[in-house]
Amino acid sequence: MKYSEKVMDHFSNPRNVGEIENADGVGIVGNAKCSDIMKMYLKIEDDVITDCKFKTFGCGAAIATSSMATELIKGRTVEDALKLTNSAVVEALEGLPPVKIHCSVLAEEAIKTALADYYNKIGRPVDFEIEKSHEE
Ligand code: FES
Repeated sequence: MKYSEKVMDHFSNPRNVGEIENADGVGIVGNAKCSDIMKMYLKIEDDVITDCKFKTFGCGAAIATSSMATELIKGRTVEDALKLTNSAVVEALEGLPPVKIHCSVLAEEAIKTALADYYNKIGRPVDFEIEKSHEE
């Protein structure tokens, strides 16, 4: 299996690793098949994601996609972050091997789950779908 340089870079040197205390949105998701787990923390001010950190207990592709995904949503509005698809993250990473695509879905799922948590906290109806990475 061959990984792009970008994937190797984000895997060996992941950005935004950690936790945020008193985060405005937290998303914890897991993939039932491989048992990998991803936690996403968002700090949001006036609907803008001012900070974003993650912890991934999982494979290299999951770490690389969560790292890239946090880079892509930091400083963006909640609305923009909701538009981020796993394919956009894969594209930014210059591709992933087909068997690893589901790992990138985990990152999208974690962000959307954290945003749904934020919506619940501020009493806004969750009007978007969260794609699951582990559906058959
Ligand atoms: Fe589980 Fe990649 S193998 S997320």
